Parts: sequence; structure tokens; C-alpha cells
Amino acid sequence: MSGDSITTPVPGDSALATAAPTTKRRARIMAVTSGKGGVGKTFISANLAAALARRGERVLVLDADLGLANLDVVLNLHPKITLHDVFTGKATLGEAILPAPGGFEVLLAGSGLVEYSRLTAEVRDQLLKIIETVAPRYDRILLDTGAGISDVVLYAVSLADEVLVVTTPEPTSMTDAYATIKLLATQQQRTAIRLVVNHVGRPGEGRAIRGQLQLVVDRFVAPMLAPDAPALKLDLLGEIPLDPSVREAVQRRRLLMELLPGCAAALAVNALADRLMTA
Ligand SMILES: Nc1ncnc2c1ncn2[C@@H]1O[C@H](COP(=O)(O)OP(=O)(O)O)[C@@H](O)[C@H]1O
Ligand SMILES: [Mg+2]
Repeated sequence: MSGDSITTPVPGDSALATAAPTTKRRARIMAVTSGKGGVGKTFISANLAAALARRGERVLVLDADLGLANLDVVLNLHPKITLHDVFTGKATLGEAILPAPGGFEVLLAGSGLVEYSRLTAEVRDQLLKIIETVAPRYDRILLDTGAGISDVVLYAVSLADEVLVVTTPEPTSMTDAYATIKLLATQQQRTAIRLVVNHVGRPGEGRAIRGQLQLVVDRFVAPMLAPDAPALKLDLLGEIPLDPSVREAVQRRRLLMELLPGCAAALAVNALADRLMTA
């Protein structure tokens, strides 16, 4: 977590003040990010949240893709109140957090809030404050971020305890994942990054991709770090096969875990949840 503290009042302060923590334990916050767009971040965030909720965790998915949010579309939710209203002080956090199908909760950004795609002091303060406020109420918070290496994405990721980078075996996706990993290592001093390889064509492809990325990291990123810095380790959380069921669920605006729980991709998401809860 960033050690920043808010010293100046920001709009929405009073709204946030009503959201008192209910427990002392704090959520584990994981940012779900990628180098390239369209690799499955939102699909994974929503379905992993459902899998974790089934395992008894209290989970919040925060739509942190502020410029190009689509979690609402995937979940078929049409919120009247969004993060935008919390940012502007028109609504409380409690009003903006919605139950999602799948037994978890969501805080939606609302589609096309391009005004928040720039990292202004207000966006910084609000995001930090919102996360600090909700953290004590959940076991886990997933930040579904935008793709790429914009300052908003990097800032949202900096608020997370751990980072999950999603890539596919496609060379462009891997190159962009590498660029993201490099920034996380050099700018945020991350020493461990989780990896999910989505769209795999054969079992074991995820391991091979992790190996390839780790080689490039060892060769090119390690020399950029301080001499005494620990080596950056990529940890394969799992792989998800390319599965037509995913598209079908998205088109029907349903969670894969609910619509087709026995399909290969759903089983792979369950394996991710199991691994996340033990490692
Ligand atoms: N494992 C998969 N198999 C088949 N299609 C997938 C898979 N993962 C994602 N997709 C497709 O890719 C599209 C983009 O995924 P999305 O989660 O919106 O990406 P992102 O959030 O990274 O931009 C989805 O609408 C879905 O149809
Ligand atoms: Mg997305």
C-alpha cells in the first residue's frame, strides 16, 4: 500500500465518512492488470470473485478501469449510482456498492468516465480514500484495472498488496505484459508478480509462457534494479484455456461460473481461486 495520507479535504469526504469499518481485519487487495487490452481482465476479475465468494470470502470488485469500464456490461448491472457519484460527493460509498450475481459485491465506475482517465490529485485522493474505507469490510478486493501503463493504472496498482498480470500467449500481449512487469519492478519495487495466462491452446502453455517471461525479466529487468534488490519472481497463478463458453457467457451477460460451471474455463477459474486461497 502507498503510505500517502490525505491532508486536504476532498469533495465526497462527508459521503465517505458514513462508511465506517465493521471489522478490524483488512482485505487482501489484488490488482488485476495487463499490458494489452482485451486479454480477459474483467472476465477473470468477475468470475474469480464469484469463485472466491463460493469459497466463503467476502469479495469486492472495484471497477478501476476508469476510462473504459465494462464490468457493468459483463454483469448486466445498470447502476443508478456509481463511483462517479461518490467522487463528486453525490452519494455515499454504501449506496454505490452493489450486490453482484455470484455472491460478491461491486463498485462500478459507470461506462465512459473519461474524465477520470487522467491522474489528477482528486482521482488519487478519492481512490486511496475509497480503498482505505472499504478494505476493513472484505476479505479480498479485486481491482479490475485498465490495460497498459497509464499513470491511473499504475496508481491503482500501487494501492494493491499484490498484482496479477494477465497475458495471452500472443507475442504482442506478452511484449506488453513484459513492459508492465518491468514498470512494476522498477517503479513500485515489486518483487513478486502473479501471472495468469489466458487463451491457452494446450495444457502447460501457461508454464512455458511464464518461463519465457521470467527469462526476459532476469536478463533485462534485474540489471535495472539496485544491486542488493531481491530478484523479481513471476508466480504462475494458473492458465485458462481459450473456451467458446466464455464468449457465450459474455454475450448473454452472465457469469461463466453460473451459466456454464462445468466448462473448461470455469474449472480453470476455480483452480485459480483455490491456489489464491492457499498461496
Ligand atoms: N478464456 C477465454 N476464452 C474465450 N474467450 C475469452 C477468454 N477470456 C476472455 N475472452 C473474451 O475476450 C473478451 C475480452 O475480455 P475482457 O475480460 O473484457 O478483457 P479486458 O478486461 O482485459 O479488456 C471477452 O468478452 C471474452 O469474450
Ligand atoms: Mg476490462
